[in-house]
Amino acid sequence: MERLERARIEALLRTARWGRNLILLERTGSTNDVAKEAALAGAPEGTVVVAEEQTAGRGRLGRRWVAPSGTCLLCSLLFRPTLPLSRANWLTMLTSMAAADAIREQTGLRVDLKWPNDLVVSDRGADGQARAWRKLAGVLTETGVREEHLDFVVVGIGINVNIPPDLLPGLAPNATSILAETGRETDRAALLAAFLHEVERRYVPLQAGKSPQREWAARLATIGQRVQVHTSTATFVGVAEGVDEEGALLLRAEDGTLHRLLAGDVTLSSTP
Ligand code: BTN
Repeated sequence: MERLERARIEALLRTARWGRNLILLERTGSTNDVAKEAALAGAPEGTVVVAEEQTAGRGRLGRRWVAPSGTCLLCSLLFRPTLPLSRANWLTMLTSMAAADAIREQTGLRVDLKWPNDLVVSDRGADGQARAWRKLAGVLTETGVREEHLDFVVVGIGINVNIPPDLLPGLAPNATSILAETGRETDRAALLAAFLHEVERRYVPLQAGKSPQREWAARLATIGQRVQVHTSTATFVGVAEGVDEEGALLLRAEDGTLHRLLAGDVTLSSTP
C-alpha cells in the first residue's frame, strides 16, 4: 500500500488555507494531541496533522482508536473559530459532512451520518430506513478554552480507508472500511485533498454565522428511528425525534418524556 507523501498531497491540494500547514508524521501518540500542542504554540487555523500510525489513538467516551499502519486517514484539523463555546459542535458537524461528501466524490460509496459523530454505511429496508450500520469513520472534537471563550477547536477524524476485510473484526465491533465496501483500494492523498477542499468550502458560511445544524440533522440516519442510547450512566429507549442547535439528541421515551442527550452510543431498537 502507498504511503502518504508530502509532495503528492501538496500537489493535490485545492485549498487556500486548509492543509497548507501540514504536519505529516509516520507515527505519533494521537494526532489530536499533536494538533492541540501546535495550537497552544500558536499554529494557524487550517493546520492539519496526519499520521500513518497512532500508538495512543483516542475515540469518544475514553475508548481507544486502533488502525493498522498505513491503511487509513488519521488526521486532526485546527480551527480558530469566532464562535461561542456552545457552538463548538458546529465544527464536528461540518467535518462529518465534509468527510462523507469527499468519500462519496472519491469512491462513489454512500455514507450516512449517525448521531453523535459516526460515519456509517447503512443497509436499508424497502422503506429507505436504515436496518443496520457498519462504522466507517469516527470524529473526536476537543476544545481549547481561554477565559470562557473558544481559543481553538481540534477535530480529529479516523477514516477506515484501505483496511483489508480480514483485519476488521480485530479492530472494533461493526467496523468496516472503504476497501471492504467497494472492493477497491482508495488513493488516500486524493481523499485527504478532497476532504480538506470540502472543509474549506463549508467553513466560509459557518464563520459568517450560518449554522450547519439543519443540513446535518437532515442527513442523520438516526432520526425518526426507534433507538437505544447508551450513555455513561444509563440506557434510554425511544424514538429519536430530532437534534437541537447544539447537536443534542432529542429522544421521546415510551412514557412521553423528552430526553435531551449530549453524548452516547446509539443502536437500533426493535419495536416493543
Ligand atoms: C470515535 O468514533 O470514537 C472517534 C474516533 C476518532 C479517531 C481519530 S483518529 C485521528 C484523531 N486522533 C485521535 O487520537 N483520535 C482521532
